[in-house]
Amino acid sequence: CSCGAVERERTLAMIKPDGLSGNYTEKIKTAILDSGFHIVKETQVQLDAERASLFYAEHSGRNFFDCLVKYITSGPVLAMVLERTDAVAQWRALIGPTDARKAKTSHPNSIRAMCGLDSEKNCVHGSDSLESAAREISFFFGEADSETVEHDEL
Ligand code: TYD
Ligand code: MG
Repeated sequence: CSCGAVERERTLAMIKPDGLSGNYTEKIKTAILDSGFHIVKETQVQLDAERASLFYAEHSGRNFFDCLVKYITSGPVLAMVLERTDAVAQWRALIGPTDARKAKTSHPNSIRAMCGLDSEKNCVHGSDSLESAAREISFFFGEADSETVEHDEL
């Protein structure tokens, strides 16, 4: 934009079951807000195997797929719409690499370093592109959902 206005972007963040059961939610939200994101809305849901397989459809057929579905359905997840400039890339940077063991050595201040375990149990999800963000936000928030908490716009 040539007029100098700041372009805000949205991405989908998800705290996975081990993040929620490990009581990392407040720490993760603090890291989100300290990094300049606005939490636009959030919803806590229990995914079943069918919904989880749909969310991770791009990975169907991979050798870790069944374990991934089992893990992500092992308890509720907290999905959040995050907004800031360059939100997709900035949220991926804040969560760190997929393998939490790698995160602990190479990205010690990342969220996966803080609460993840390995390349499977890595406690948080982040959309990998604007297209994924749009799909994943509508996956969780597209339909009217009585559990959704809408936060005030800044
Ligand atoms: P992927 O999209 O590659 O990673 P990211 O979450 O960083 O975008 O994989 C999706 C999830 O699948 C990942 O968060 C955890 C799980 N997974 C495994 O369990 N084993 C693996 O070897 C990989 C690559 C991913
Ligand atoms: Mg991914």
